[in-house]
Amino acid sequence: MNAVTRAVVKRAEGYGWEVLGIRHGWEGFLRGDSTKLTYTDVAGIINVGGTVLKSSRTNPTKRAGGIETIMENSTKLGLDAVICVGGDDTLGVAAMLYKRGLKIVGVPKTMDNDLSSTDYTFGFDSAVNEATHAIDNLRTTAESHDRVFVVEIMGREAGWVAAYSGIASGANLIIVPEEPFDLEEVISFVRSRHEKGEKATVIVISEGASLKQLKGVDQGKVDEFGNVRLGGIGQFLGDEIEKSTKYDTRVAVLGHMIRGGSPTAFDRVLSTRFGLAAVDLIKDGKFGMMVSLRGTKITAVSLEESTSKQRLLDSEILDVIKKMSY
Ligand code: F6P
Repeated sequence: MNAVTRAVVKRAEGYGWEVLGIRHGWEGFLRGDSTKLTYTDVAGIINVGGTVLKSSRTNPTKRAGGIETIMENSTKLGLDAVICVGGDDTLGVAAMLYKRGLKIVGVPKTMDNDLSSTDYTFGFDSAVNEATHAIDNLRTTAESHDRVFVVEIMGREAGWVAAYSGIASGANLIIVPEEPFDLEEVISFVRSRHEKGEKATVIVISEGASLKQLKGVDQGKVDEFGNVRLGGIGQFLGDEIEKSTKYDTRVAVLGHMIRGGSPTAFDRVLSTRFGLAAVDLIKDGKFGMMVSLRGTKITAVSLEESTSKQRLLDSEILDVIKKMSY
């Protein structure tokens, strides 16, 4: 996100425009909390993860008069245009504001990589690299101690991060939300490896994965956009494997560890390209649009289309997962 902010400021200054950063996303917009940004403010942040402007999971439509307050604050702050950086929830609000007359453009951001109108969102590659590194490290103990390791990975209802990091780290089995799993099949998979002498088994499971027989584990907490807080399926699976097989099993929940740290070069470049393209959408008066990556090219799609459906793992990647399960 910092790389986007940096590129936006650089490009906008090039056009002689002034840039205000809104702190804490929609939360800050509701309060009119802004700060002037010049290139000096954003220098040296391209390699820093997260956002210097901070973030929130605030849904303005859940606040009384929230949308109206944002429209008013936009006028009070003297904004000619707004760039909104976020995932489907955040951009869904942007689409709504556009319909109300706000001159707004979007930039797709989510480590889950589950937006349908772009081939990649930034954050995904960084998360995959962090997760791959962590799984590589866990394999050391799995191999030395002949253990089963279950690694739980974030991503909500989409298995992109689990699939890519699982493939990249050579996980023996990858379980994703797109294909509910059968507990008995997983246990016999582990058992058959063990009987063949392969006593170290690494299983990557996405936090949103669910059993064929049962809905996934959630923690019963919901954010303002209605997203349940996931987590616990890995522990459940590890316990069941150990109970049935008596093999020494450990569970690791990578959680937010993979959502932090320094972004990869791929993400920094993609974010920079998105930031520049967003400013150019404004320059061209193309409001209500979101920048997007299609193949290797940056293009734009309507905000409405971009938030209309979630992009889950496609059949080709699901097939790779199946073929590489051993
Ligand atoms: O949507 C991005 C994401 O990182 C999901 O993969 C994860 O389930 C969720 O956010 C975690 O959210 P929070 O930081 O609010 O716990």
